[in-house]
Amino acid sequence: MNVKERIFEHLEELVDRVAPPGWEDDVRGYVKDSLSDVCDRVETDVMGNVIGRIDGEEKFELMFAAHMDEVGIIVKSIDKKGFLKFAKLGGIDDRILPGSRVTLVNSEGEKIEGVIGTKPPHIMEPKERKRVQKHKDLFIDIGASDREEAEEMVSVGDVGVLRGDLKRLHGDRIVGRGLDDKVGVANMLTLAELLHENEEVKPTVYFVGTVQEEVGLKGAKTSAFKIYPDAALVLETAVAGDVPGVKESELSLGEGPALTIVDASGRGLIAHPKVRRLLIEVAEREDIPYQLEVGEGGTTDATAIHLTRGGVPSGVVGVPTRYLHSPSEVLDLNDAENAVKLVEAATNEFPDALGD
Ligand code: CO
Repeated sequence: MNVKERIFEHLEELVDRVAPPGWEDDVRGYVKDSLSDVCDRVETDVMGNVIGRIDGEEKFELMFAAHMDEVGIIVKSIDKKGFLKFAKLGGIDDRILPGSRVTLVNSEGEKIEGVIGTKPPHIMEPKERKRVQKHKDLFIDIGASDREEAEEMVSVGDVGVLRGDLKRLHGDRIVGRGLDDKVGVANMLTLAELLHENEEVKPTVYFVGTVQEEVGLKGAKTSAFKIYPDAALVLETAVAGDVPGVKESELSLGEGPALTIVDASGRGLIAHPKVRRLLIEVAEREDIPYQLEVGEGGTTDATAIHLTRGGVPSGVVGVPTRYLHSPSEVLDLNDAENAVKLVEAATNEFPDALGD
């Protein structure tokens, strides 16, 4: 199986699993099982991070991280007629909510289907029609006719996601929910397999599936503190802007993984110059396409990791993705494959490039 097929196979498993921040259990189980096949040791920590380790030939420790959670929703109350009010877990744009399908997971682990309802335009006041409806004004309809019936299926505190199945578009482009950061997790699992098959792995390598990234980079913070590696690379998505109405200086699909120089205008991560240089050198030498990211928007787990204790030299390898945090995120599998190839080729060079 080639690298692209391996990544897609992991994605098929991952996108099926619902994992809002704090409720990563289903993804965690899959990550743990997959890493157990290829790592020397795997553990789950207090926060719920999965940490796999491949012992290397040298003392140098390299940490890879990808977050297991995805943006989601949580049931806040159930009204007399059986409609659910909800809060958001992570950054979901209110404009995409009305009419979206949701999959909720109850405490028994059963999946409950629903839809985010709103007043139809026919009976809206003209002013109302122009306004973006806030999530607080919307509700979830699970088909229940009253509170009692709804409570047989769900409870306050149950969580869910906007539904968006994994499908192939033209060529190697795919669409699906939660590709942020399921593609990073799929890349990390594929990388672990490749390094396991490699006879000589120089650094000791950690693979961390982190929790609660979408609500404050929390799992990255604690796992990096515990490991305190000599360097770290975060496997993520990156904001693609190659769509109508966006200026041309943004990242494009199919032109290679994004190597972060800065994100959040420097308030998030400023990639360590040695890490940035190493990735660019390896990409040039191996003829792997790449794009440089100067981001002005969000940030990643690397922001938490690089500020650990005395500091950790860190970088991000991202797969450019359109429509982030919507149920229909779109990316090109070739970018994911090239991200894995680049990181695999760079792994053994970390000790020399960063060691003292
Ligand atoms: Co992400």
